[in-house]
Amino acid sequence: MGIASGILLGTILLLRLLLIHANLPSLATKITNPGTSLHLQTLQELLRGPLHGWKTVLYFDPSLGVEVLDRLFRLQAFRTNDHVLVNLEHDGDQWSQNQTSAVLRGGHMVHVVVFQEDFRPFFDSVSLQWNPKYLVVFPFTKTNIKKVLQYEGFKGPEKIVLLGSSERTNELKARHINVYTYFPFARENPIRLLGPWNTETFLSFESIFVDRFPSFEGYNFWLGTWFDDYPYLHQSKTGPEGEGDGVEVEMLDAMARRLNYTYHLTTEPPDLNWGDFENGSWTGMLGMVHSKDKNFTVNYFGYTNERIEAFDHSVSYWNEGFGLALLRPPPLPKWRSVYYPFTLEVWASVTATFVLTVIVMLIQDMLQPEPFLGGVGSTWPYLLRAMFNNSIPRLPKAHWQRLFVGSWWLYCFILTTAYTANLIAFLTIPVFPGRIQTVQQLAESDYRVSMYDYGEFVAGALRTSKDPHYRTLGERLDLHSTDDESMYPVLNGTHAYIESYSYSVVYIFDRYKVKNAYMLREQLYPGHLCWYFQKNTAWKYKFDEAIQHLVESGLIEYWLKIKTEDFLGTDFERKEKLSSEERSNTAISLEHVQGVFFLLLIGWAASFLTFLAEFLTKSAKRQ
Ligand SMILES: *[C@@H]1O[C@H](CO)[C@@H](O)[C@H](O)[C@H]1NC(C)=O
Ligand SMILES: *[C@@H]1O[C@H](CO)[C@@H](O)[C@H](O)[C@H]1NC(C)=O
Ligand SMILES: *[C@@H]1O[C@H](CO)[C@@H](O)[C@H](O)[C@H]1NC(C)=O
Ligand SMILES: *[C@@H]1O[C@H](CO)[C@@H](O)[C@H](O)[C@H]1NC(C)=O
Ligand SMILES: *[C@@H]1O[C@H](CO)[C@@H](O)[C@H](O)[C@H]1NC(C)=O
Repeated sequence: MGIASGILLGTILLLRLLLIHANLPSLATKITNPGTSLHLQTLQELLRGPLHGWKTVLYFDPSLGVEVLDRLFRLQAFRTNDHVLVNLEHDGDQWSQNQTSAVLRGGHMVHVVVFQEDFRPFFDSVSLQWNPKYLVVFPFTKTNIKKVLQYEGFKGPEKIVLLGSSERTNELKARHINVYTYFPFARENPIRLLGPWNTETFLSFESIFVDRFPSFEGYNFWLGTWFDDYPYLHQSKTGPEGEGDGVEVEMLDAMARRLNYTYHLTTEPPDLNWGDFENGSWTGMLGMVHSKDKNFTVNYFGYTNERIEAFDHSVSYWNEGFGLALLRPPPLPKWRSVYYPFTLEVWASVTATFVLTVIVMLIQDMLQPEPFLGGVGSTWPYLLRAMFNNSIPRLPKAHWQRLFVGSWWLYCFILTTAYTANLIAFLTIPVFPGRIQTVQQLAESDYRVSMYDYGEFVAGALRTSKDPHYRTLGERLDLHSTDDESMYPVLNGTHAYIESYSYSVVYIFDRYKVKNAYMLREQLYPGHLCWYFQKNTAWKYKFDEAIQHLVESGLIEYWLKIKTEDFLGTDFERKEKLSSEERSNTAISLEHVQGVFFLLLIGWAASFLTFLAEFLTKSAKRQ
């Protein structure tokens, strides 16, 4: 509150100076005005009553005269709290440049404009950031109520009341101060009298700041939209050209019934841009809203600082980012399923255990007076039998050796049971190589990325990103001038496809009928989606409340599912998962058991070679 108290102090000093040097007789006329005391008293009651405890920004008109202003500033309310005082003769633009947004548009301050002559020059020049939530207009003379309340500069505040008397009332009635407000959408008497001021009727804050938009009374809103936003907003499949469908339409329709409005959609923005700030002006759909051609836009837009500065945004209705789609790598060859049941480490330890057991068995044999098996040649086949579920023909004579063989047999029993049980599963399910699921993995792979250039921020943001993985993707990004061109390299398996997540899903699986694609689990720039309204739209909060209700009731999520299913068929998510695993009751085919026959062939080849070697050595010895 440093600035506020500074301004207060400055103003008070100025007034003291003025009082000393003021030409007192010329002010006398103003003071004798019988209304002024009433006005000051009413203001005092207002500040002590319904506005008690609220911080205020007081705009005062120096033409009220020093005496009146002095009494105004000495009101109890302005002495106890720190308040922002603003001279209406100052330059509104200069003043607003130096204020915090809490003062300019914060919801915790009430702005009170006290004036006698024309207040408009100040508010005409005030910056776009000025938009109080609560505005009290307090003319100290009789005034044209309608003109003040409908003044262009006062269109933004959510709640506005005027305390004063109409210029048409006679002197007797002028002793009452009336409370008026303005209902912009009302078809009959938009300027409404809430009643003559008295402390009993206007006890609470809500009684004075009433809801000015209980209904839009059938108003027709013009929306800046583009029918290229699956599944959010697109041309209706069954309806005539120009009829929209999608999640946004469901939202608009649901709220239209409650808030009583109609709306008109645009099929595409004239410049065919999505909406960005370029060369000092807004393009695309946001451009249409910014130039006040359209009332608001409902397409896929997230929050950015630049947009928030230039527009009013609704609450968020969904959270989504840009999805990355890739072709699934083909499954590994089926014959390899023979060794999939065990991981490499298990295979290695099984081999090591076998070698160790053979060695131990050999040592045991050497310690015996009479060897049981005698030699490596007969030991390893003896031990291997257990591994292949073959019975052991005879047992060693020594009990301690029997125990050893018994425990080996138990070990083999567990091992083979585990293997065969697992093998059945692995024979029928295709095994895929590990899939890329995160941005980091994608950046570390050889894939490039492909995107349709329709003026989204993503390309620029990736290239200038601080995150090294995002930047890598930015360097490998190929932009294409049509949607189809951006999809071809993806279908060739060299590129990943970037597009807003839900759109990608519909686009890839419906339009291109790609069966073997998948969406990466991680999304780029995940963010909240919202609607953008013209800056300082007084009634925007009605949409905020309604959207909030839709979100809380889970309807947005439901509609998104329904609208996606319109394209992909019901239950597509589950089917998609299933097809990616090809679990649908595959019978065991020759391909699956190929591996076993490979092993058999290898075994035969090995035994034949051994036989040949033995035969040759024997015949060599004989000679
Ligand atoms: C803002 O305030 C400072 C001092 O408080 C002043 O020097 C400066 O000129 C003001 N700027 C504008 C744009 O009014
Ligand atoms: C919507 O507003 C119009 C105009 O005031 C009115 O005639 C109509 O009855 C309202 N509709 C509903 C459903 O309230
Ligand atoms: C912005 O300016 C550049 C260079 O002057 C121009 O090439 C580009 O087309 C302009 N963009 C828009 C949207 O006007
Ligand atoms: C909506 O936009 C139209 C221009 O298309 C404008 O004339 C109208 O005043 C706007 N309505 C509101 C309520 O702002
Ligand atoms: C995709 O592959 C085909 C043939 O394999 C090739 O002719 C075509 O140019 C490729 N397209 C792109 C965009 O790389």
